[in-house]
Amino acid sequence: QAFFKPIQNAAPPSSTKRHTKISVVGVGNVGMAIAQTILTQDLADELALVDAKADKLRGEMLDLQHAAAFLPRTKIQASLDYSITSGSDLCIITAGVRQNPGETRLNLLERNLALFRNIVPPLVKYSPDCILLVVSNPVDVLTYVAWKLSGFPPNRVIGSGTNLDSSRFRFLIADHLDVNAQDVQAYIVGEHGDSSVALWSSISVGGVPVLSFLKRQQIAYEKETLENIHKEVVQSAYEVINLKGYTSWAIGYSVASLARTILRDQRRVHPVSVLAKGFYEIEGGDVFLSLPAQLGRSGVLGVTNVHLTDEEAGQLKDSAKTILEVQSQLKI
Ligand code: NAD
Ligand code: LAC
Repeated sequence: QAFFKPIQNAAPPSSTKRHTKISVVGVGNVGMAIAQTILTQDLADELALVDAKADKLRGEMLDLQHAAAFLPRTKIQASLDYSITSGSDLCIITAGVRQNPGETRLNLLERNLALFRNIVPPLVKYSPDCILLVVSNPVDVLTYVAWKLSGFPPNRVIGSGTNLDSSRFRFLIADHLDVNAQDVQAYIVGEHGDSSVALWSSISVGGVPVLSFLKRQQIAYEKETLENIHKEVVQSAYEVINLKGYTSWAIGYSVASLARTILRDQRRVHPVSVLAKGFYEIEGGDVFLSLPAQLGRSGVLGVTNVHLTDEEAGQLKDSAKTILEVQSQLKI
């Protein structure tokens, strides 16, 4: 006997409603911050978790499932076996080692490259039509690695890139000007890391271009002050890692914002790591780095044509060179 008595002559469920499935590989600090943000923001009907440590994985799955009475309904599953990810719309990779205090992101490459050889092929096997979103560091080089290992078209392989750095940037500018960070339009592009580039010339607050406004008002602004804000962005992760050992909450929100834009076809612009060759005169090889990109259900829809000063364009090319130098030592 059924728990509910069925309605007579009920129509079958509408087939137009999309069922959304997200998989997260790696249930460490970052994977769990992303998972919990996805759940609270009701972004998926199904969430599959994969990790290499069975106890940790089952513990995290149960802990999330036990919040069912307080969350939108999402089917949460976990397994060491990648078949659990089958039919995902979006696969997010957060597995891997993280920086020790003072260590750079690029230092992690060899160790995380080895993991990616075991992670990307099964994800692709079980979800051949998914969008791959890479978060593990060094994110730009590992996004290139994921693209190569997957055989996917470039629009379906994205790195979380400087979406996070740009939020840190917007927070610091908003703090400096005493405005709301959501009213600050400002991008950090290039490498998610030490060679990132701040696009000062295109910053606006509430639609007002900041640099030209300050110039028109003849308000002296010092290049040094601006450079210090960018330095603070670059130092942000090092500072948090020194203080608490890892970063998690901001990347959780950053990746959830990308998941929302992609899965709900929001067509918003995010600075994320994309195949950058040919944009902004970036040449010299297939390199992934962050550019302001329009995202939607099919992944990367295009790259925004932001005006760069000669200095910014030069810094962006240098950032590409830094990543390409690291990449040239890889054997995939
Ligand atoms: P963590 O050590 O807490 O978690 C890593 C998880 O990966 C662990 O649970 C581990 O068991 C799992 N793992 C290891 N090998 C695996 C494999 N082969 N298959 C499946 N799972 C495996 O680390 P964390 O703090 O969550 O950081 C994870 C990664 O995210 C690091 O590389 C870190 O640098 C990166 N990160 C990136 C950003 C960004 O903005 N792109 C921000 C923060 C952290
Ligand atoms: C970040 C990581 C460490 O929080 O890449 O920026």
